[in-house]
Amino acid sequence: MIRVLGIESSCDETAASVVEDGRRILSSVIASQASKHELFGGVVPELASREHTKAVIPVVRQALAEADCTWDDLDAIAVTYGPGLIGALLVGVSAAKGLSFATDLPLFGVHHIAAHVAANYLTYPELEPPFVCLVASGGHSHVIRVEAYDRFSILAATRDDAAGEAFDKIARAAGLGYPGGPKLERAAAGGNRGLIVFPQTRFGGGSWDFSFSGVKTAALNYLNQNPGVKEDSSKLADFAASYQYAITKVLAEHTVAVTEEQGLKSIALAGGVAANKELRALFEEACAARGWEFYVPPAALCTDNAAMTASMGGFMKLAGQEPAGLGLEAIASESLEIYTRKMH
Ligand code: KG4
Ligand code: ZN
Repeated sequence: MIRVLGIESSCDETAASVVEDGRRILSSVIASQASKHELFGGVVPELASREHTKAVIPVVRQALAEADCTWDDLDAIAVTYGPGLIGALLVGVSAAKGLSFATDLPLFGVHHIAAHVAANYLTYPELEPPFVCLVASGGHSHVIRVEAYDRFSILAATRDDAAGEAFDKIARAAGLGYPGGPKLERAAAGGNRGLIVFPQTRFGGGSWDFSFSGVKTAALNYLNQNPGVKEDSSKLADFAASYQYAITKVLAEHTVAVTEEQGLKSIALAGGVAANKELRALFEEACAARGWEFYVPPAALCTDNAAMTASMGGFMKLAGQEPAGLGLEAIASESLEIYTRKMH
């Protein structure tokens, strides 16, 4: 049995968690900064770094206390090294290095998208690779082949905005505020998703990549041409439902097509956008119709947390990966494939 302390600070949540064998959550503490950034309509990087600095040690202490663990009960520390906001990442990485140095615990650097995938292992004790995972968050929209716990390849990705970004930007334009995804989902309740048909982008040449800039521009144009929509809750519901459907439908169709091509029969979801109920329902339907397995973590494990980081760190240790140690660097942008290559 191994216990890993996970630390996550890549965006606007400072989080720490203790997870056993990559699967069982003993504690998961999240200090959210959302209310601080709400005033500005989006995440302000410098503000995020300052808030992480204040929260990181108290959050780690609380995670250990809630897990009823001392440092001696732990086998490793895992921290998100990237991708993310560099100043935010540096706070978690520096804290983790200091703790690793002081305790002699091995330190593992975890890729944030791999951590999102691992939220599924925390939810489904029987789930094992290979499977296809759609990671859709504020910064990423990737369809990934999860070949092994520590081996990933990207099958499709967005060529411009991430799905969460597309939600956030239109929610802001519609006067719904930040974070946009959950607010837009709430505004869409009871709306007619078929009322406005937004464009859907498909690239040729066998690519299932996403593009959300066209649908986003079309939605902005619609709001400009129909200024009354923002003030009328029923028209706003139709607009939000149609926009939500345009995005979630593309995510589901492309992921299912890629999975078919790969000859796999199980799909998992991850990332903040996976909290969206319409997205979950579309996948559930598509998988049920094909007799495929469908996995999706509860909403609290879809958005950023450190349990997923601790889980991925646990699987790195169980796979016999070398710890990064004190040489670990925070990296703002690094692909999952480079992370995979570093491990093999
Ligand atoms: O994974 P996450 O917490 O942070 C990143 O790594 O980016 O994802 C945050 C993103 C935001 O864009 C947020 O609007 C979106 O996930 N999101 C949602 C929902 N809940 C969060 N999008 C659509 N529907 C939701 N219910
Ligand atoms: Zn994330």
